[in-house]
Amino acid sequence: MKIAIASDHAGVGLKKVLKEHIEKKGIVVEDLGPYDEQSVDYPDYAKRMTKQVVDKEVDLGIAICGTGVGMSIACNKVKGIRASLCGDTVSAKYTRLHNDSNVLCLGARIIGDELAKAIVDEYLSNEYEGGRHQRRIEKLEGEDNE
Ligand code: RB5
Repeated sequence: MKIAIASDHAGVGLKKVLKEHIEKKGIVVEDLGPYDEQSVDYPDYAKRMTKQVVDKEVDLGIAICGTGVGMSIACNKVKGIRASLCGDTVSAKYTRLHNDSNVLCLGARIIGDELAKAIVDEYLSNEYEGGRHQRRIEKLEGEDNE
């Protein structure tokens, strides 16, 4: 499995923590920046990361900003992306099972490192169930949404 991770300046610290945490599982993590806390614009990093997910260069993406909200808005504007802002482990589990989520968004100023790690663990260890959820996933990409 390969993961792309990106943030803005507010998420740089948590990004580093999560990269190390995920790599311990033997998963390859591509860090798409930024690499210091100089102020940047989260849409630029959302674009860079979601391109890798859409192009199937990675299996899943993780996007971090202060609240996670800006990243989730930016990521969900990209066709084929189903980004989920999660602040708890139950949502992280079910957004993989039911929504076939392909990007996890986190708020570095909202949750602590340990909760973030637990959310990531749940997100990465569950897979899409398909079945009755597939019709709903297809409606997300339907013509009505063009
Ligand atoms: C940056 O100050 C902050 O606005 C950003 O990290 C994020 O929370 C936006 O949604």
